[in-house]
Amino acid sequence: MAASRPEGKASEFHLDDARWGDAPGMEKLIDSFGRNDLKQYGFEWERDAVRVRVQSDLMPLDERLRVSNGVRPTNDPRYRSHASVPMRPWRTLDAAELETLCAPPGQWDMRRMVGVCRFPPSVHRELVRVALAYANSFNAHDGQGVDVANRDAAVLLGEYLLTREGFGLIGLAARDPGLVTVTPRIETGLLTGLHVDGWDTFRPVGLATNRVGVNLGKGSRSLLYVPFAADTLGLTDHKTWDQRIPGFFTAHPQCPVLRVRIDPGEAYIAPTELALHDGNTEGNQAIDVCLHARGQFGITD
Ligand SMILES: [Fe+2]
Repeated sequence: MAASRPEGKASEFHLDDARWGDAPGMEKLIDSFGRNDLKQYGFEWERDAVRVRVQSDLMPLDERLRVSNGVRPTNDPRYRSHASVPMRPWRTLDAAELETLCAPPGQWDMRRMVGVCRFPPSVHRELVRVALAYANSFNAHDGQGVDVANRDAAVLLGEYLLTREGFGLIGLAARDPGLVTVTPRIETGLLTGLHVDGWDTFRPVGLATNRVGVNLGKGSRSLLYVPFAADTLGLTDHKTWDQRIPGFFTAHPQCPVLRVRIDPGEAYIAPTELALHDGNTEGNQAIDVCLHARGQFGITD
């Protein structure tokens, strides 16, 4: 029988005064991906795990997936306060862990699946052109130009677009190589660390969307994500996430972060509104270039 999260349960996250390391006795070990201690939030593995599907002709999951040794606060001045990042070392996963993290065949679940797919080089070049046209139109307040760019992008990304409802380009992002996490806060420019996105809240289109990120750079990059649905854990409300996300990581410093390698020409699809995540450019020698769009994406069998 499916358990539901008790009303008000999330209020136990009230850690407004908590500082890193000042929460003795709160640590809950997450001992493995299949037998974790998240039931207190109403979490059920079968329903609330976020699993990966790799397009069948690409590098298999076991070669591209790594897991962190937990999470840690960062005192790096490039980060905002209370930011959390994955902790080294990155290790390979054993067969049982891979099995629990591999998305089952069959229906695509936009809310609970991460996908890895690939676009041909001809699509890359066009995506760069369209992204630049989009940026120019957006900056010039040219609504018609924005519409054209969005329409062109939807065609180019169409192979993995389940519907055009809610589709919208976010744009091209260039990031430095060698970063554990890459996303800055718009207001301050400081790196934000592991986070959930709020596009559906701040620019609603009437339905939930996920996101695609196409690696248009010369080197590999990675998607980082926590394989536990953040909505189940009470971490997706933008009014409280600045307190609750640090609170969650303080209580669960062994929380695993997965690192999914995305090679040039490949893309990730992820429910970034519903999973703690960020990008990662460790090991990359070149500037990272990634095109992002929101919409309803998926890899169907
Ligand atoms: Fe994000």
